[in-house]
Amino acid sequence: MEIDNLLELARKRRCIRRFKPDPIPDGHVEKILEVARWAMSGANGQPWEFVVVRNQETREKIVDLLAEHRKRTHLMESTRIEALRHPGAGAPRTGPPYVKDAPVIIVVCGDPRTFQATVLDTHFSSGEGATFHMNIGNATHMIHLAAAALGLGSQWVSVTRPMERGLKELLHIPEMLRIFVMVPIGYRGYEPGISYRRELNEIVHYDSYDSGKYRSDEDVIAFLAELRKRTTGSYRTH
Ligand SMILES: Cc1cc2nc3c(=O)[nH]c(=O)nc-3n(C[C@H](O)[C@H](O)[C@H](O)COP(=O)(O)O)c2cc1C
Repeated sequence: MEIDNLLELARKRRCIRRFKPDPIPDGHVEKILEVARWAMSGANGQPWEFVVVRNQETREKIVDLLAEHRKRTHLMESTRIEALRHPGAGAPRTGPPYVKDAPVIIVVCGDPRTFQATVLDTHFSSGEGATFHMNIGNATHMIHLAAAALGLGSQWVSVTRPMERGLKELLHIPEMLRIFVMVPIGYRGYEPGISYRRELNEIVHYDSYDSGKYRSDEDVIAFLAELRKRTTGSYRTH
């Protein structure tokens, strides 16, 4: 693969918050998960397992769980000044329907026992360490890239603790496993365009950190406020 193709794929992948209900061709989910299987992980611990949810009734129950979470995050976000409120939690909603409209939801599970494969984590973390979370993040990112390569849309849906409990019950996932994220996948319901990223020269330092680029607290707050203005639109698509 040429680097330009990879760059194009990285730019083409977007978080999609509205899907067509059309089914995904047979074998696509397996291809996506075959890519995810090749993700990097600390000491090759491979904590991931994937529950592929296709059943509509189950997807609707997952939206109900998300609706509960939405109420809570809306309340929490209301305590912040308006300019900094997360656009996805700024208004009370019943739950993001795009999650059930996507024909497939991949629930990414992680087995925390595998972090013992990682010497660093075993020695320096008493609980689940950063390596475990990074491993799950890596596999999840591979899912998104593979979906984009197949011309599909996908979304990163964070799973909170209360949602995790509900998902485990609903999907009979063993207590030992952790769930931090699920990924609805389907054909894009709209064309989102190019996402916003900070410029390369703002984020790269050669040989040592260039303190001229260090952002003050005020700079970061101004950045976040600007970010909120830029990204609000992408949360209004559902
Ligand atoms: C760790 C992580 C958690 C995220 N959680 C959510 C989420 O719960 N809901 C959501 O709508 N988007 C979520 N996102 C997606 C981001 O909002 C999205 O990646 C970002 O706004 C940039 O947009 P883009 O991916 O379309 O370029 C998450 C992304 C990451 C990496």
